[in-house]
Amino acid sequence: MRTLIQGGTIVTAADIYEADVLVEDEKIATIGHGLSGDTTIDAKGKYVIPGGIDVHTHLDMPFGGTVSSDDFFTGHRAAAFGGTTMHIDFAIQPKGATLRETFDMWTAKAKGKAAVDYGFHIAITDLPDHIMAEIPQCVEWGVTSLKLFMAYKGSLMVDDATLFRTMEMAAANGLLILVHAENGDAIDILVHQAEAAGHLEPKYHALTRPAALEAEATYRAIRLAEVAGAPLYVVHLTNIGALEAVRGARARGQSVYAETCVQYFFFTKDDLARPGFEGAKWVCSPPFREPSDQQALWRGVFDDSLQVISTDHCPFWFEGGKDGRTPGKELGKDDFAKIPNGCPGIEDRMMVLYTQGVRGGKFSLNRWIELCCTNPAKLFGMYPQKGTLAPGSDADIVIWDPNATHTISAATQHQRTDYNLYEGMQVTGKPSVVLSRGRILVQDGEWKGEQGAGKFVPRKQWDKRNGA
Ligand code: URP
Ligand code: ZN
Ligand code: ZN
Repeated sequence: MRTLIQGGTIVTAADIYEADVLVEDEKIATIGHGLSGDTTIDAKGKYVIPGGIDVHTHLDMPFGGTVSSDDFFTGHRAAAFGGTTMHIDFAIQPKGATLRETFDMWTAKAKGKAAVDYGFHIAITDLPDHIMAEIPQCVEWGVTSLKLFMAYKGSLMVDDATLFRTMEMAAANGLLILVHAENGDAIDILVHQAEAAGHLEPKYHALTRPAALEAEATYRAIRLAEVAGAPLYVVHLTNIGALEAVRGARARGQSVYAETCVQYFFFTKDDLARPGFEGAKWVCSPPFREPSDQQALWRGVFDDSLQVISTDHCPFWFEGGKDGRTPGKELGKDDFAKIPNGCPGIEDRMMVLYTQGVRGGKFSLNRWIELCCTNPAKLFGMYPQKGTLAPGSDADIVIWDPNATHTISAATQHQRTDYNLYEGMQVTGKPSVVLSRGRILVQDGEWKGEQGAGKFVPRKQWDKRNGA
């Protein structure tokens, strides 16, 4: 089957040019002129871009006394509607489980549901010696990144010894270490103090997780990785202090990378203080910060201190626990510490960043692709199979209409939640056709994808990657 995408403007991290793209079965066969196919998709007046890659998601994740509300079908469908055709989810090791059991558990969640391609990071929560010995095998399964939580004391958090031992093992075996960097011990004390003082509203989530505790943990992880010789990727970085730690490490020549998430550019801690319980919608960790931090993040993206913008898509219902819904934010009605942490966004990322980032003059069209597609593929060992448009690459392609307008709303979104952080935001630029390995998933607002067609993507080791 040969599909010709005709007359569009190709945009990659490096180039912008007019050409046709010939897709043969699952791959890009040729990019050029005068080509023909069995079917033709008209891309005149549109950009032809690589499918978005979101390297930070939590689908069907048990967390905070419930489970995130999107599964591997609803989350994938929402991703595709927003122009994202690949994601890497966190397979979280339940205490006592082996890494293989963890990998199998997450594989089972995706089985028969996946509609776009996906990979896994394994999040280590428990590291007795027999688990440590499994780390080299992760590479054989195609899992070449490990995550450690320095926060969520009593559930996901690991101590520095576990973090450091994992870093050493990762360094020796070509895996990238990811950290959720916040000082969980200090946060735990602040949370208990707030509760004891009767400070129970959502805004105390932000007030008990100060930016300094993220900066401290970021710096600590960086220095531990330096001694262990491990490459480090800091997830969901939110503030100036943490950014300075990353910038300093990179200036010293250390292999340290960082992402921020799209929502951190647009919301502040004041959103958690919205009237009533409304602020619970904005409860995620690390929390939203100050306008000055937002400015610092835009600068960080511009000067390459930040290489990736992901979503940390971890949706919960605002009003859950009824009508077949899993419990959601209402679990924390009487105590902010019981609000499940996380926000939706996998569908919104590409549109919000095109509108506010590219059209808003914050970064170029090429940089948008680099941040959302190419760098994720390079850093996580999938390039050039994913993350660019080139002969031989998977035909994960989005035909992007730069002039189409859309108002983001919970009423029209495909994410399985009852709210959207960006409710009412007007975006200009959205996908008109989305292909995953040559198959059309979305065309003119209609779902044409198939449950079970998405595949697990095994990823390369760190030292075999094309660095970002
Ligand atoms: O609040 C968040 N970010 N929830 C998901 C888990 C994590 O920390 O990434
Ligand atoms: Zn996190
Ligand atoms: Zn996360």
